[in-house]
Amino acid sequence: MNTDVLSVAKIAKLAAADGVATAGVLQKFGFPELRYRDLSDAENVEIEARVESAMGSDLRVSGKNDSAVWERGWGEVANELTGQTISIAALRPPYFRGEPTCRLDGRYIRPLDASFEYDASLALRRIVFEKFLGGFDRVAEIGCGTGINLLLLAEQFPQVKLIGCDWATPSRDIVNTMAKQSGRDIQGHLFNMLTAEGWNGNAIDGKTAVLTVHAMEQLASNWQAFAAFVRARRPGLCLHIEPILELYDESPFDDRARRYHLKRGYLQGYLPFLRGLAAAGQIELATVQRIPFGGLYHEAYSIIAWRPRG
Ligand SMILES: C[S@@+](CC[C@H](N)C(=O)[O-])C[C@H]1O[C@@H](n2cnc3c(N)ncnc32)[C@H](O)[C@@H]1O
Repeated sequence: MNTDVLSVAKIAKLAAADGVATAGVLQKFGFPELRYRDLSDAENVEIEARVESAMGSDLRVSGKNDSAVWERGWGEVANELTGQTISIAALRPPYFRGEPTCRLDGRYIRPLDASFEYDASLALRRIVFEKFLGGFDRVAEIGCGTGINLLLLAEQFPQVKLIGCDWATPSRDIVNTMAKQSGRDIQGHLFNMLTAEGWNGNAIDGKTAVLTVHAMEQLASNWQAFAAFVRARRPGLCLHIEPILELYDESPFDDRARRYHLKRGYLQGYLPFLRGLAAAGQIELATVQRIPFGGLYHEAYSIIAWRPRG
C-alpha cells in the first residue's frame, strides 16, 4: 500500500497558503513527520460501514443552551493543570484521541503516526493564524476552550493582546492563569454565544480580529445573536476555522460528512447569511476556503474570513 508524508508543501497547499511563509512558520515552531497510507478497497468498505453505524447511534447534539458538558470537561483539564506551568501539550483537548482514520483530499487515509490529526491540526492553525492575524493589535477568541489557540497566538505574535471568552468557567480561569504565568496581556471572560450575554466586547475595534475555532460549530442554526454582537462592534477581521456544511459537495464521501454534521447539530446557515450580507455590500467576504482534511467523520478546518464594510 502506498505510504506518503504530509509534507510542508502539501499542508501549505491544503490550507491554500504561501509555501515560503508556511515553511517559515513550521520550521520556527516545529512540524513532526506525519506519515499515512491509502486504504485498500476492503478497508474503505469497512470504514464506510463504521461511519454509517456510528451515525445510527445516539450522538450528543449541539445547539442547546446548556454548558454543563463543557464545564465538566474543561474542569477536568483545569484540575490537571493545578500547580503546573501551562504548555501547549497540557492544553490538548481530550477529544483528540488519535483517529485511526482521517479524511484527506476527498478520501479516507490511515495515519501511521498516533498524533497525526492533532499535529496536522496544530500546524494548520499556525499557518492560518500567520496568514490572517499578523497585523492586528488584539485577537479575541470566542469559545476558546482550554485556551490552546491563545497560547499558539502568544508564541507566534509576541506583541499582540489576547482575549479568550467561553461560557465555561474553567476556560476563563485557565486563560487568566495563563496571563499570570506568562505576564502577557491576556484576559479571560465568560460569554455565551447563543445569547451574546457576558463579556461586553467593548475592546473590539478595527485593530482587533475576532476568532472562532470549532466553536461556532456548536451553535447549530442559533448563531444570530453572536453574529449581531460581532457586527455591532466592527472588528478589523472575523476569522472562523469551523466545519462549514455548505462547502460539502454532492459525492457519497461528502454526503456522509454532511449527514454526520447534521446529526451532531453543527453550524448551519451562517455562510449563506454572510454571502447575503456580502451581496448587499454590508461586509467583505475575504476568504471562503474549504480545507479538505478532518477526522473520520467530518472536516472541521474550513476557513471563512470577513470584515465589516463602510
Ligand atoms: C470544540 S471546543 C473548541 C475549543 C477551542 N476553540 C479549540 O480550538 O480547542 C468548543 C468550545 O466552544 C464553547 N462553546 C460552546 N457553546 C458555547 C456558547 N454558547 N457560548 C460560548 N462558548 C461556547 C465550549 O465551551 C468549548 O470550549
